Amino acid sequence: MASATFYLILLLCWLPYFAIAETAGRVPVGETLTAGNEASPWLSPSGDFAFGFQELKDNKDLFLLSIWYHNIPEKTVVWYGYGDAPAVAPRGSQVELTVDRGLVLNDPQDQEIWNSAIGLGAVAYGVMNDTGNFVIVSGDSDELWDSFSYPTDTLLPFQVMKTDGELFSRRSESNFSKGRFQLRFSDGNLVLSTVNLPTKSVYDDYYNSRTSDGSNPSNSGYRVMFNESGYMYILRRNDQRFILTTVRPVSTADFYQRATLDYDGVFTQYFYPKASTGNRSWSTLWSQPENICVGIDGGLGSGACGFNNICSLTGRKPMCNCPKGYSLIDKNDVYGSCKPDFELSCNDETQNSIEDLYDFFEINDIDWPTSDYEFYKGYNEVECRNSCLHDCLCAVAISREGCWKKKLPLSNGRVDSKLNAKAFIKYRKGDTPPAVHRLPNSDPSDKKGNPMSATASLLLGSSVFVNLILVGAFGFGFFCIYKKKFVRVHQGESTMETNLHCFTYKELAEATDNFKEEVGRGSFGIVYKGLIQMSSIHTVAVKKLDRVFQDGEKEFKNEVMVIGQTHHKNLVRLIGFCEEGQHRLLVYEFLSNGTLANFLFSNAMPNWNQRSQIAFGIARGLAYLHEECSTQIVHCDIKPQNVLLDQNYNAQISDFGLAKLLMMNQSQTKTNIRGTKGYVAPEWFRNKPVTSKVDVYSYGVLLLEIISCRKSIDVEMGGENYVILTDWAFDCYRSEKLDVLVEGDMEALSATRELERFVMVAIWCIQEDPALRPIMRKVTQMLEGVVEVAVPPNPSPFASSMN
Ligand SMILES: *[C@@H]1O[C@H](CO)[C@@H](O)[C@H](O)[C@H]1NC(C)=O
Ligand SMILES: *[C@@H]1O[C@H](CO)[C@@H](O)[C@H](O)[C@H]1NC(C)=O
Ligand SMILES: *[C@@H]1O[C@H](CO)[C@@H](O)[C@H](O)[C@H]1NC(C)=O
Ligand SMILES: *[C@@H]1O[C@H](CO)[C@@H](O)[C@H](O)[C@H]1NC(C)=O
Repeated sequence: MASATFYLILLLCWLPYFAIAETAGRVPVGETLTAGNEASPWLSPSGDFAFGFQELKDNKDLFLLSIWYHNIPEKTVVWYGYGDAPAVAPRGSQVELTVDRGLVLNDPQDQEIWNSAIGLGAVAYGVMNDTGNFVIVSGDSDELWDSFSYPTDTLLPFQVMKTDGELFSRRSESNFSKGRFQLRFSDGNLVLSTVNLPTKSVYDDYYNSRTSDGSNPSNSGYRVMFNESGYMYILRRNDQRFILTTVRPVSTADFYQRATLDYDGVFTQYFYPKASTGNRSWSTLWSQPENICVGIDGGLGSGACGFNNICSLTGRKPMCNCPKGYSLIDKNDVYGSCKPDFELSCNDETQNSIEDLYDFFEINDIDWPTSDYEFYKGYNEVECRNSCLHDCLCAVAISREGCWKKKLPLSNGRVDSKLNAKAFIKYRKGDTPPAVHRLPNSDPSDKKGNPMSATASLLLGSSVFVNLILVGAFGFGFFCIYKKKFVRVHQGESTMETNLHCFTYKELAEATDNFKEEVGRGSFGIVYKGLIQMSSIHTVAVKKLDRVFQDGEKEFKNEVMVIGQTHHKNLVRLIGFCEEGQHRLLVYEFLSNGTLANFLFSNAMPNWNQRSQIAFGIARGLAYLHEECSTQIVHCDIKPQNVLLDQNYNAQISDFGLAKLLMMNQSQTKTNIRGTKGYVAPEWFRNKPVTSKVDVYSYGVLLLEIISCRKSIDVEMGGENYVILTDWAFDCYRSEKLDVLVEGDMEALSATRELERFVMVAIWCIQEDPALRPIMRKVTQMLEGVVEVAVPPNPSPFASSMN
């Protein structure tokens, strides 16, 4: 009896031990968690990380399926489920580790909210790892799914972000919907960009690691790494490192660490002491970009803050404050847009003079650089203010070497002490907004106040600071290094008289590591990067055509042969193709200096000499396609995205010959306008025959872009009195203001004759009447100055009657 008791006690003592030892971090199939239950989340063995439901701050009945730091009071979230929306579940919802689909989250009515999207797996168990990674493992110990592969806004030590990976910001500290900022790879560069939310299309980048190396593609970046020592770096394909952690990091043994794309758009590496003594809070190690307020400068989107809002920096973090007279549309979203607290009206009754109706707040050193609609050279402050007062469309006037009139909504607002500008912000008297009374220095008569205090009052005025997001993670684990795979191709397999290789689909799948790294996306399909071993190793761009017609097999080969016969230094070389079942792929030489679009429209203006060489190159390439090939090739989609740059910044045209390929079983061309808005010749829309002159037109537009470094249709940009590049360029030419066209680029201006020639050639190319446009051979001669360029006529003489 006594011994039985002894064994029972022994058993009772050991039982929990076995249970813990076996399940430390492990989650068996069938296990569930319920939102709102007190039950413990799934913990990692050390207890550092937890997987489960976290109550939302502003709604106690909603829970986020997430992973967080369990051992710190902040419970900082490092990962959350995200399908089309964050995995937010009402009280009573249940997440279950199922045998076939991994994690499945259902609401109390059994409607599915989110799942881990495992195709058909035989799940054995899940593990909440001490690295912060939740891993789902099969019976064969294969990893079927892990949270590290689906990052949200945070990377942890040992986590790797690949070229197809992406971090996206949240909406706000407590709203986990997708925000406006994104971190991803683009062409070997790690970039931060703003995103347009409904369509997710990406605007200009505001941080760029510049790790794309044109002279040697194998130097380009392709992984973001976060190692055990707390260093973050971009790994290049040749295993070299571009270090992101520019300061000495703290150890991962003593500090929790995480890198988060915060909801304010700043990518920050944070640390937090593990020891429960000392200053327990998240501290910043480093962040990018240096100044997000002035870093975001694209034409589209609102900038670092919402529309009509103004961004200022504290440290490297942006704060947003509505200007006086404006207030937040959503009071809880200080990074959102502001609305005027009054009406700007063009229908005011005339009894009152305009001076009685409107007045201005004055602030120094702020600007909304992309919201101009008029510029008056030589106007002083008084003239500027008056001009805005008497213009019912004018919302703000900025006096800065002249007078810039701005319209609503204002975008990219920022404080910039280097501006030396004075802003006049219009407001309507009478219904002076309550917002004004909140402001300490809002008296419009307080105009002499020093710049600092005016700025400070603006900044302190309308909204309270927001706490930074405090999300975080730490752990141990492993990361894998991508192995380069080569596909060997025997020289004997080349086809016919061209040197084209006929690849099997399998070879190309291997060459691209199963189409892993997307480097571009065009109207014809997606382009992937790959490595192929022929006589030597080639980096290639594999284009997967998504719209070729099944019955066009013979034609496909014919067209590919036509493309394959082209040899010109300004054309991207086709190496081979694949035609197998439904699959149609083209294999090109890879040029990693990126597209001309990136080159022209990123921050710094490339120098004039490079630009003019590029213009020559493209013209020669097109002249070759039109006039020297045995079969004439009309490109039909000339635009800067379809021009690539090699290591010496020689332009090479890509995607030629594809227009025909993809239209081949369609008899009427007009039903399927190819080409891209802004570059398309007018005859496409007019039932007129389409000839090589469509390319001449597009080339003219492109040439203007090269000259001015501006996009052909930046309609929304609306800056500095231009709307459509072609019209504006002709106006500049006609009024002899080429300096405006090149934004005062001294190098271009000192090459006056060449610049003028280029502009005239461009205007000839964009003539509405195709017959007036020169052929490409003539274009090259005119550019080179070999033949005289006549004064071009107005390119669209009937423009007004056409709309
Ligand atoms: C989060 O923000 C989105 C977009 O503004 C909104 O639709 C959603 O209701 C918000 N969610 C919560 C929980 O507040
Ligand atoms: C982490 O990366 C840094 C920078 O490349 C390097 O100096 C350090 O040795 C690495 N640490 C480990 C543990 O590999
Ligand atoms: C703790 O750290 C935070 C953030 O780094 C800092 O603002 C605060 O002043 C520190 N507190 C103490 C007592 O050192
Ligand atoms: C969990 O992390 C450890 C290192 O901390 C690693 O050895 C182990 O393989 C990981 N488990 C899974 C299932 O990934």
